[in-house]
Amino acid sequence: MKVAILYDRLRWEEKALLDALKSRGVEVEMVDAKVRVAVPGKMTTIGDIVLNRCLSHFRGLYWSAFLEAEGVRVVNSFWTSLIGGDKLFTSLELAKNGIPTPRFVVAFTVEGAMNALNEIGLPAVVKPVVGSWGRLLALLRDYEHARAIFEHREHLEAILHNIFYLQEYVEKPSRDIRSLVIGDEVIASIYRYAPEGDWRTNIALGGKAEVCTLREEEEEVVLKAAKAVKGEVVGVDSLESDKGLLVNEINTTVEFKGAFSATGVDIPGKIAEYLIKEAKR
Ligand SMILES: Nc1ncnc2c1ncn2[C@@H]1O[C@H](COP(=O)(O)OP(=O)(O)O)[C@@H](O)[C@H]1O
Ligand SMILES: [Mg+2]
Repeated sequence: MKVAILYDRLRWEEKALLDALKSRGVEVEMVDAKVRVAVPGKMTTIGDIVLNRCLSHFRGLYWSAFLEAEGVRVVNSFWTSLIGGDKLFTSLELAKNGIPTPRFVVAFTVEGAMNALNEIGLPAVVKPVVGSWGRLLALLRDYEHARAIFEHREHLEAILHNIFYLQEYVEKPSRDIRSLVIGDEVIASIYRYAPEGDWRTNIALGGKAEVCTLREEEEEVVLKAAKAVKGEVVGVDSLESDKGLLVNEINTTVEFKGAFSATGVDIPGKIAEYLIKEAKR
């Protein structure tokens, strides 16, 4: 059996996954998505299954499309990466499946975004539809400030910044919840505490991980969210609110070093075992 790990940066996670697979006697090929060429008719030898760990959303997405067209089994699937990698597409799938999520709207110009803000109310959050690590997120507390942020975005190079995706700001405790879902199981959950003076809880920004034990009904919400995007190995992030858990986003190339350290759950081992099981099917 051969498992390929498609990557564009070797983080702690990719190395841990490589070790976990090797220690289970599996042949592993590390495929550098930045230099390998995708050639029609020549991709099936890449492996029995490919774990797509690309950091770059679009790079990973185009790789998955190519590999699946060649009949290669990819985790997560092209469709899952397409939906999970875009915050609006995720919100739409969550809403469609009746999963509690923060209220959201979308607009496509500065004027539209100002109208969107009226719809959502203050405070609100504006985010790039594609992005991670809390980059370019803004908490909007007043209209003047919001307009300035929208105008700045309008002049950013990337076309995606002209998709004004807004959410209600959820008055959460100074933490959110990251749950690791593999297959049909929540294998670990952590609280991520925001660093001093920030409302974002990303570990990449200095957020701190602590063990979290979900209640049964919360676990159900998390699993339903993963299912809504047909996620196989995903990180489901949720916010605690007075309406219960609200699912904020679903990460399809999830970072789990923080969850591993805080919970001691062998996350790379469990991912390796899932891949082995799926490759045999
Ligand atoms: N609507 C919101 N209300 C309250 N906090 C939020 C909201 N959206 C995001 N956050 C906080 O900001 C962090 C980053 O937001 P997220 O949508 O996950 O973007 P990214 O993909 O950059 O991580 C979240 O983990 C959460 O702590
Ligand atoms: Mg996030």
